[in-house]
Amino acid sequence: MGQKIQAVKGMNDLLPVAQKDFKLTADIWQAFEDAITAWARRFAYRQIRTPIVEQTGLFVRSIGEETDVVGKEMYTFSDSNDALSLSLRPEGTASCLRAVVEHNLLYNGPQKLWYMGPMFRRERPQKGRYRQFHQVGVEALGFDSVDADAEVIAMCADLWQQLGIGEHLALELNCLGNREERAAHRAALVVYLQQNEAILDDDSRRRMHTNPLRVLDTKNPVLQDMVNAAPKLIDYLGETSQSNYTELKSLLAALDIEYTENPRLVRGLDYYNHTVFEWTTDKLGAQATVCGGGRYDGLVEELGGKSTGCVGFAMGVERLLLLVQEYGCLKSEAAPDVYLMRQGNGSTAVAMQLSEQLRRVGLSVYQHCGTQSLKAQMKKADASGARFAAIIGDDELTNNTITLKDLTGQLGQHTMPQSDAVHLLQQWKTTNGCE
Ligand code: HAM
Repeated sequence: MGQKIQAVKGMNDLLPVAQKDFKLTADIWQAFEDAITAWARRFAYRQIRTPIVEQTGLFVRSIGEETDVVGKEMYTFSDSNDALSLSLRPEGTASCLRAVVEHNLLYNGPQKLWYMGPMFRRERPQKGRYRQFHQVGVEALGFDSVDADAEVIAMCADLWQQLGIGEHLALELNCLGNREERAAHRAALVVYLQQNEAILDDDSRRRMHTNPLRVLDTKNPVLQDMVNAAPKLIDYLGETSQSNYTELKSLLAALDIEYTENPRLVRGLDYYNHTVFEWTTDKLGAQATVCGGGRYDGLVEELGGKSTGCVGFAMGVERLLLLVQEYGCLKSEAAPDVYLMRQGNGSTAVAMQLSEQLRRVGLSVYQHCGTQSLKAQMKKADASGARFAAIIGDDELTNNTITLKDLTGQLGQHTMPQSDAVHLLQQWKTTNGCE
């Protein structure tokens, strides 16, 4: 026997059943994907799918060389001719914009897009943090005004309500202003950090010049007082930025979306300006951020297109589903409606024809395969979670009937003509099956 090969650390298999250290199942994942597709459709966003591998330069230019994501966490390799550096995508925004610019989609006017798929970051794995994780992302491209910011935030709030986790998620909001405002704030911040250099830790000292805003994001408890007293970006915002931010807040108030302003919220990717936001929970331990996003008006131009306003967000599917599984209300349809059992010469073809008829009218049918006693088959039917067992034994074969047994016991057991059974089960499915 060959040695077993294991999955790569931090990259999970999604199985029909929960695992000891990874509780999500493929069933809840599928139900979530279905819910997401319907949700995006309700908001009239259209789907985009891009490759998982891109040229490394795309991420360097868009996310920023000094960020942790690009500087430390990307899976990067040379293509076989060595000339081209490729990376597994660490997020979806850069790829989405690369595709939009490459195919000139904005020529047809603004685009409201969404995507879903695996992303890769070489972080230290723990609950809620993986090296292959999944995002659902939304990008509104070609929109300069804050109604688009309000819409994408409202989309999140709508989804949380639908998934039954609204009360476990809190919105944090900040405004990063424009390039000049950030530069003025940055200059003041560097001076302030230099004045406090003696107490900075190594990470903060390193970031002080490369990415001083990120110092404000430090989790080091010793630095919190220093960070709290640091110059605040909000005090450097000009009139236009201030009034846009005020308008966004009043739109959120009109939509009954609660938020907390967090002047220290800077996000870990370099492309943001003006609005940034995060949805966090206190139910997932250290990996508290379930969704993050904001405005990135300079990115289309940075990637070779015409300058235009853009805003979007991405949620971490694993984190969100851990929350939904524990506190939410996403119904997954794992069990079949009918477990079809059979015994006796000639029963296979009849059972298969009947399964086909039932599936055609919308039922999920588990067709028993192999030769086992009806008793053994009934055990499997019980274990499958099916609502009904449908039995074709010798008597049923002779009489063209079928026996239906309600495995919950509610509707008992009845033998009837096969066509009646199809009709009855179809009726049950339309009236009760989707509850
Ligand atoms: P991000 O904040 O880097 O933003 O990631 C979005 C979400 O992905 C996070 O809030 C988190 O839930 C999830 N996530 C990130 N890293 C991991 C990980 N290692 N394991 C599990 N989940 C993770 C972006 O990626 C931006 N592209 C969002 C955006 C879209 N901004 C504008 N448009």
